[in-house]
Amino acid sequence: MPSPHYAQIVGWGKALPVRSMHNREFERLVDTTDDWIRSRTGIVERRIAGPGETTATLAIEAARQALAVANLDPRRVDFVLVCTCTPDKLMPAAAPIVQQAIGATRAAAVDVNAACAGFMYGLVMASGLIAAGMHRNVLVIGADTLSRWLDWKDRRVSILFGDGAGAVLLQATDQPTGLFASQLRADGAGADLLHIPAGGSLAPSTVETLQLGDHFIKMDGQAVFKFAVRIVVDSTREVLEHAHLTVDDVDLFIPHQANVRIIDAAAKTLRLPAEKVYTNLDRYGNTSAASIPIALCEAIEEGRMRPGDNLVMCGFGAGLTWGTAVFQWGVPPSIPATDPWQSAASAADLARRRHRAQRIAQRAVAEVAP
Ligand code: UT7
Repeated sequence: MPSPHYAQIVGWGKALPVRSMHNREFERLVDTTDDWIRSRTGIVERRIAGPGETTATLAIEAARQALAVANLDPRRVDFVLVCTCTPDKLMPAAAPIVQQAIGATRAAAVDVNAACAGFMYGLVMASGLIAAGMHRNVLVIGADTLSRWLDWKDRRVSILFGDGAGAVLLQATDQPTGLFASQLRADGAGADLLHIPAGGSLAPSTVETLQLGDHFIKMDGQAVFKFAVRIVVDSTREVLEHAHLTVDDVDLFIPHQANVRIIDAAAKTLRLPAEKVYTNLDRYGNTSAASIPIALCEAIEEGRMRPGDNLVMCGFGAGLTWGTAVFQWGVPPSIPATDPWQSAASAADLARRRHRAQRIAQRAVAEVAP
C-alpha cells in the first residue's frame, strides 16, 4: 500500500456566539448609519461573544462538530492547531485548552498567530505535516473574538468585526487530492497598519495605556484595503499559475470576509464571476481567522463542494500576513461504523450531523457520477 502523502478535509464545523448585533445598534453608539456600514462594507450583522463565550469555547464547539462529521475518535487526533490572535489568555495558548476539552489525549497542541490569515497558515502547515508523513489526523481551527479588543466608540473599526470559529479535520490519504499549491507570505513593514499597541512585552498594560485606549485595535483602514485588494489578486494569480490552473478552472473562491468591496474589486480584476465567489460577511462581519473556515463549512453544507472541485482560499490581515491555497476537494469519505467514542455533544446531535454529512457526500458523488 502506498504511503499517504495527501491531506483531505474529512470533517468540518463552525461555532458562532448566540448574540447577533445589527448595524442599527451602532447608530446608538457612534455617528454612523446602517446604510453607511452596508454600502461601505457589505456587513449587516455580526455575532458578539457574550459571558462564558471565549475563543476557546467557540473553537471547542467547532472542533467537536468536525470530529463528529469525520466520525473520528478524538484520541486519534495527532495535532491541534488553533489559529487565533485572540487566545483566552496571553499564556497558555488556546490550543491545549481545546485539546483537553475535546479529548485529544495523544495530540500536540499549539496556536498559530497570523491574525486574519491564520487559518490559511494553519491549513498549509497541517497539509505539510501530513505530506511529510509525520501525522495522519490534524485539526485546524480558526477562532477569534476580536470584539473583546474593540473600542466601541471607534466607528472606523468597531463596525467591522465579529466573533466565531470554524474547524476542519485534515486526514492523510493516498488519493492525489487536497493542497495543490500555496503561498504564505508576510510583510512586517506594515506591522503598524493594524495592531493593538499595548498589552504585550513592548508596552505592558498600565493605567496609562488603558486610559489611552492602547489595548484596543488600531487600523489604517484605507492602507489595509489597498494592500488586501493587491495581494488577493497577485497571490491568487501566482498560486493558480503554480498549480498549472487558470481562473476558469476555479470552482469556488473563498476569500477572507473583510469587506465586500475588497472581494468585489479583487474578483473583478481576476475575472472571477460572482457565482464562484463565496460571501457570508453580511451575517458575520470580519471574524478574523474564523472567516474562511466558517465560509467553507457553510459552502459544504449548501452542497457547493463536489469531488474534484478546485477550491481557492485567500486570507490576509495584520502582520501584514497573507496566505493563498488551491485545494482540490476530495471524494467525501463514507462514514464508517467505528467504535463509539465519548463527546460532550449529545448522541442525537452527533447522529444528526453524521446523517447530514452522509447526505452531502451521497449527493456530491451522485452529481459527479457519469
Ligand atoms: O482583516 C483585515 C482587516 N481589515 C480590513 O480589511 C479593513 C480594510 N478597510 C476597510 O474595509 C475600509 O477602509 C473601511 C470600511 C474601514 C473604511 O471605509 P472607507 O471607504 O475606506 O472609508 P474612509 O476611511 O476613507 O473614510 C471615509 C469617511 C471619513 O469621513 P471624512 O474624513 O471623509 O469626513 C470617515 O471618518 O467615512 C467616515 N467613516 C464613517 N462614517 C460613518 C469611517 N467610518 C465610518 C462609519 N460610519 N462607521
